[in-house]
Amino acid sequence: MNTRDPNPRSTRPSLTTDGVIKTFVEYYEDRGHRRITGSTLLPPPGDPVLFTTSGMHPLTPYLEGKPHPQGRRLVNVQRCLRTTDVDEIGDPTHLTVFKMLGTWSLGDYEGPQSLAWGHDLLTEGLGVDPGLLHATVFGGDGQVGRDTGSLRVWEERGVPVEFTVEDNWWSNGPTGPCGPDSEIFLWTGDTPPRSTPTQDERWVEVWNHVMMRHRRLPDGTLVPLPQRNVDTGLGVERLVSLLQGKDSVYECDVFDPWRRELPRVWTLDEPSWRLVTDHLRSAVVVIADGVRPGNTGHGYVLRRLLRRALTVLWRDDSTRRLDDFPQELVHHTLDHFRQSTDPDEVRRVLLDEERRFGRLLTRGRQVLARPRFQGPLDEDDLHYLHDTHGLPRDLVLSLRSEEG
Ligand code: SER
Repeated sequence: MNTRDPNPRSTRPSLTTDGVIKTFVEYYEDRGHRRITGSTLLPPPGDPVLFTTSGMHPLTPYLEGKPHPQGRRLVNVQRCLRTTDVDEIGDPTHLTVFKMLGTWSLGDYEGPQSLAWGHDLLTEGLGVDPGLLHATVFGGDGQVGRDTGSLRVWEERGVPVEFTVEDNWWSNGPTGPCGPDSEIFLWTGDTPPRSTPTQDERWVEVWNHVMMRHRRLPDGTLVPLPQRNVDTGLGVERLVSLLQGKDSVYECDVFDPWRRELPRVWTLDEPSWRLVTDHLRSAVVVIADGVRPGNTGHGYVLRRLLRRALTVLWRDDSTRRLDDFPQELVHHTLDHFRQSTDPDEVRRVLLDEERRFGRLLTRGRQVLARPRFQGPLDEDDLHYLHDTHGLPRDLVLSLRSEEG
């Protein structure tokens, strides 16, 4: 799709990623929000998640009532990492690492005000066709009633609404701050909008507004937070690609250098290019936030990202080396995520892990070629290969499927 699409999603398709971020932040600053600096991908100690998956993680104490030094209205840009989306990588809307624009009312204005501003910004500030929007609203369950405040805003503005229960409840893990949310979807189909977000995946979620006023206790009960907050989050790359009239998040301007540079060193089909781009880019950001490859926790996620990218690269040509990975892309990524880590150090970590993985594959192939491992592998074999030869289960299984 190009910008001469007969059914454009926005009257401002030339907005770049930086342009959207600037418009967003200034819009909220004009409405009394202070811009706070985003944090690293590693949430504060005690947070139930491994990586920052949303802009609210670093703000948990303030959502729970601690006064924030910058006041009760905040806006920021936060890098986030979602491993739950890893299997969807390569589809048009998901990235492992992305930028989330966030706004917060810490016990100040309520959900309806947040939705009204959000709708005005999308339609007036960013030029989105109001007829292409759909909202979802919490329909109520045994503990919390239907979110009539959100419903009223959407009715007044003529935005169609679908009610759900689980899909409109946001929580940061099994315990902690949570609440009903109202999500805004944008129609991406070539036909006029039809159906509803849960029934047609051409409705793509762009912005979530959470009425964060409950806390879930370990026994599952809900208690009110000391203040009624609003927490909103919008994935930048996804919104920008939609505004720019693109079919996938990988076509927005952020990926221009990747489209230009990677094909110079490796010829990859589109699905492989997307996976390699997503995983190497994510690995750079994670390394720059201080993580090193390992077998548990953060390090394991990094290791999986790198090994998956290498597996795809080596599938077609085992002589490919990360030494050829353009350093310009490391610079571009660190710049995009405002990380000041030494790019040469990032490269060193990438190359170290590549060497380690290469050695492990060679050893794995040799060991698996032994007569003892010719038949199907049982649990004892997998334990033995791991404990005696240091070959992880998923590596053994992937080598085995390679043979088949
Ligand atoms: N915490 C909510 C989300 O991640 C809104 O920011 O969707």
